[in-house]
Amino acid sequence: MTHSEIEAITERYENRESAILSMLQDIQAKEKYLPQEALERLGEKLGIPMNKIYRIATFYRAFSLTPKGQHEVCVCIGTACHVRGAQRVVDQINLELGIRPGETTKDRNFTLETVNCLGVCAAGPVAAIDGQYFGKMSPAKVGGTLKKFRSDKKKKEGANGKA
Ligand code: FES
Repeated sequence: MTHSEIEAITERYENRESAILSMLQDIQAKEKYLPQEALERLGEKLGIPMNKIYRIATFYRAFSLTPKGQHEVCVCIGTACHVRGAQRVVDQINLELGIRPGETTKDRNFTLETVNCLGVCAAGPVAAIDGQYFGKMSPAKVGGTLKKFRSDKKKKEGANGKA
């Protein structure tokens, strides 16, 4: 992220320290994580010490200090989903993508996360990819579900290649 992109973000919020959360959200939305250089630049620009920025960045689960994949796969392992086989879904994703919860594929296409409830327990086991919910998940459905997102990327790459 360039210095001018960081400055555009801070200026959007009139350089107000109170808007730090919104600024971090904007950086996270663009980069899929919070790069250290971006945080340093933000700290310089707003006059906020780095330890304070790191405290905020590590407090909220929505922020990540390590690079995330293009697509976030989130599997619920809460009780209702667990008893219906959520762990087998996680294991199948591990087989398909070679990543465990908290990890990102080498091509930065997917990041796998687990949560304790997605709020739709009756549809368990539930997974969400980029906020799109998939209920009644099973190991057999994992490959096809992931493929939708893989092919999305390939279609975009194909379209970019033709342009
Ligand atoms: S426990 Fe999985 S959605 Fe609530």
